[in-house]
Amino acid sequence: MTRNSLSVTDNRTGKTYELPIEHGAVRAVDLRQMKAGPDDFGLLSYDPAFMNTASCRSTITYIDGDRGILEYRGYPIEQLAEQSSYLEVAYLLVHGVLPTATQLAEWRWEITHHTWIHENLKKFLDTFHHDAHPMAMLVSAVAALSTFYPEAKNGADASMRHLQVVRLIAKMPTLAAFAYRHGLGMPYAYPDNDLSYAGNFLNMLYKATEVKYQPNPAVERALDVLFMLHADHEQNCSTNAVRAVGSSQADPYCSLAAGVAALYGPLHGGANEAVIRMLQGIGSVTHVPEFIRHVKSGEGRLMGFGHRVYKNYDPRAKIIKRLAEEVFAVTKPNPLLPVALELERIALQDEYFIQRKLYPNVDFYSGLIYRAIGFPKNMFTALFAIGRLPGWIAQWKEMIEDPETKIARPRQVYTGVAARDYVPIESR
Ligand code: ACO
Repeated sequence: MTRNSLSVTDNRTGKTYELPIEHGAVRAVDLRQMKAGPDDFGLLSYDPAFMNTASCRSTITYIDGDRGILEYRGYPIEQLAEQSSYLEVAYLLVHGVLPTATQLAEWRWEITHHTWIHENLKKFLDTFHHDAHPMAMLVSAVAALSTFYPEAKNGADASMRHLQVVRLIAKMPTLAAFAYRHGLGMPYAYPDNDLSYAGNFLNMLYKATEVKYQPNPAVERALDVLFMLHADHEQNCSTNAVRAVGSSQADPYCSLAAGVAALYGPLHGGANEAVIRMLQGIGSVTHVPEFIRHVKSGEGRLMGFGHRVYKNYDPRAKIIKRLAEEVFAVTKPNPLLPVALELERIALQDEYFIQRKLYPNVDFYSGLIYRAIGFPKNMFTALFAIGRLPGWIAQWKEMIEDPETKIARPRQVYTGVAARDYVPIESR
């Protein structure tokens, strides 16, 4: 008879233990009962970088990395990208169900009417150096929101939580657009409530002397789809940061600022910026084979390739590649596109990349679209942050509402010296 459990024999003591298996996992804390002697703390599992450790149970996002599947609350990303909108996806992630028409209209109205930021926060953004990176500004500005809404500390109150959720989704594009215009030395453009979420963001970025900014519908839709594609990706580096900080009951602004900080890194959200730098460095299609040789000899990485979870084509990269063609039809053709296509073509048939299951990820083509829309490289990760926001919020909310939540506090395997006496400085 089969049992849903794992039998483990500890060869130090000869004892056998039976650990229950639930949802394909054993509880690491069940290892604690395995002790080599009475003073032993108990067995730990060692897993740097969480290569095989589930840190939570979640009902938000499902990924099958081998088959290239991504679903939000059970809905395939392809269907959402085709038929939904970013704000509807945000509702889905945060509330767990698709909204009715009335619920969506209400959600849209709430978010549209919380886009303004306090004038003092605007002054705070003014104080940054002219060439401050928008991501560093965003980390600080999201944390600074906490100082304007001290009531956000009351995480136990569901209506208070809802207000912070709405504020965060509404204000993030305003903060990102103001960071962009600060870098250009342009006056900030205030939100326009007549426009869509993506349309208003474009307005705050690009409005100049015209009385009313009219976004290009193809660009507006492309941005909305890109936001949807980035909206959640289960327990990645930034989401883990949000959950870890939030588990100490820090308010949602400070918890999400940690997510923005984690996203900034070039191995995570910063990869799209690195892809463009890489493509510019390669320069032309003729230099691609030489660049691939350079990567294979371990002198660099093919940015926008490889993923901790996807060992197949990232489903988001497929959608983005199609989207790129639609955007390039209404913008100028991008001279880096042929370089990217040639890199992908060669890498996908090269043994080095095949063996390691390295495929294009979400960042490989997104930067080219952002570039075509007119974003400078240093804004790319800020766009990713806007997209990822509902995911971080949904994960933060799920963590707060989970009765199993405790403060995140990993163990360590101590490999330092054993206790020794302090040596006075004159005797060293
Ligand atoms: N180019 C060349 N070789 C690579 C790449 C790459 N992009 N990615 C992984 N490899 C190689 C490694 O050198 C290693 O080879 P080895 O076994 O001979 O040592 C092997 O593939 C496994 O790589 P790891 O670094 O162990 O894989 P890990 O799962 O830790 O890393 C990561 C995943 C960080 C995404 C990695 O693939 C990478 O650095 N990619 C480039 C950066 C990037 O595009 N990041 C965006 C990820 S998507 C996102 O965050 C939104």
